[in-house]
Amino acid sequence: MRDNEFEFIRGLVYERSRISLGPDKRELVSARLGKRLRATNLASVGDYCRLLQSENADEELSHLIDVISTNHTFFFREEAHFDFLRDVAAPEMAARARAEHWAQFRVWSAACSSGEEPYSIAMTLAECLPQWPWEIAATDISHRILAKAQAGIYREEPVGKLPPATIKACFQRGFGPQEGNYRVRHELRERVHFHQLNLLEGEPPFREPFQVIFCRNVMIYFDRATQEELVDRLTRRLVPGGYLFVGHAESLTNLRHGLKLIRPAIYQRPTGA
Ligand SMILES: C[S@@+](CC[C@H](N)C(=O)[O-])C[C@H]1O[C@@H](n2cnc3c(N)ncnc32)[C@H](O)[C@@H]1O
Repeated sequence: MRDNEFEFIRGLVYERSRISLGPDKRELVSARLGKRLRATNLASVGDYCRLLQSENADEELSHLIDVISTNHTFFFREEAHFDFLRDVAAPEMAARARAEHWAQFRVWSAACSSGEEPYSIAMTLAECLPQWPWEIAATDISHRILAKAQAGIYREEPVGKLPPATIKACFQRGFGPQEGNYRVRHELRERVHFHQLNLLEGEPPFREPFQVIFCRNVMIYFDRATQEELVDRLTRRLVPGGYLFVGHAESLTNLRHGLKLIRPAIYQRPTGA
C-alpha cells in the first residue's frame, strides 16, 4: 500500500468511526483490506480508494469500517464487572428504583460487538433481579456484527466454557442443521434491544437515562480528545450515582472527566452531578 493510500484510508476511517490508526497499523490495514479487494473483485488498493471516492460509496464505507474495527469479545469478559453488577450495582439500583419510582433498571452495552457482552449482562440480571423489569440497550457501529448479535446464535466452543447451569438456564441447544450451535433463550433475547450507533455521532436514540453503562474495549482505538468526548457523552446518559464500566486496559486516569473511581475500571457519576 502506498503512503498516500494509507493516509486516505486512515483519514476516512477516522472521519467515519473516530478510530485512530497510527503508522504501526499499516500492515494490519493492508491485510484487512485484502478481504475487501477480494469481495469487490478489485486488483489494487488504488482501485479500492477510487471506489471509496465514487458516488454511492456509502455501503462500501460501512464494509471498510467493519473490516478495520476489531470485534473480538467473549461471554463474561472481565468477570469482575459482572460480579460488581450482581453484588453491588443491581441491588443498589433496585433499592433506589423502589424509593424513586423508576419504571425500569436500564443498562447500555455501548459497542456491543457480536452480543456476548449484552447477553452476559442479561444472564446476570436474570439471576439477580428475577422479578425486576430490567432492559438492555446494545449498540455498535457495525451493521454486520449487529445482525450476528441479534440472532444470538453461538458455536459450542465459546458457550461450552460457561458453567453447565448457565448453559442450561440461558441457551437452547440446536439440532439438525443447527447441531453444534446454541441460541440465547428467547426470554433473554427479548430484553436486549439492538441499535446501530456511532458513539461519536449524533444523539443515541434513547430518552431515558441508564443506571449502568458498559463501554469496554473500544476507547483504546480512539485518540485522547475523542476518549474525553466519549466519556462526557456517556456520563450525560447516566443517572446520578450510575456506573460506567470501561475495559481494564482503558483507565480514565489521564482524561478530563467528572466521574469517581470506585474499583479498577468502574466509575460512578457523582450523585450531586
Ligand atoms: C473489541 S469490540 C468490544 C466488544 C465488547 N464491548 C467487549 O468488551 O468485549 C469493539 C467494538 O467497537 C465497535 N466500534 C468501533 N468504533 C465504534 C464507534 N465509533 N461507535 C460505535 N461502535 C464502535 C466495533 O464495531 C467493535 O464491535
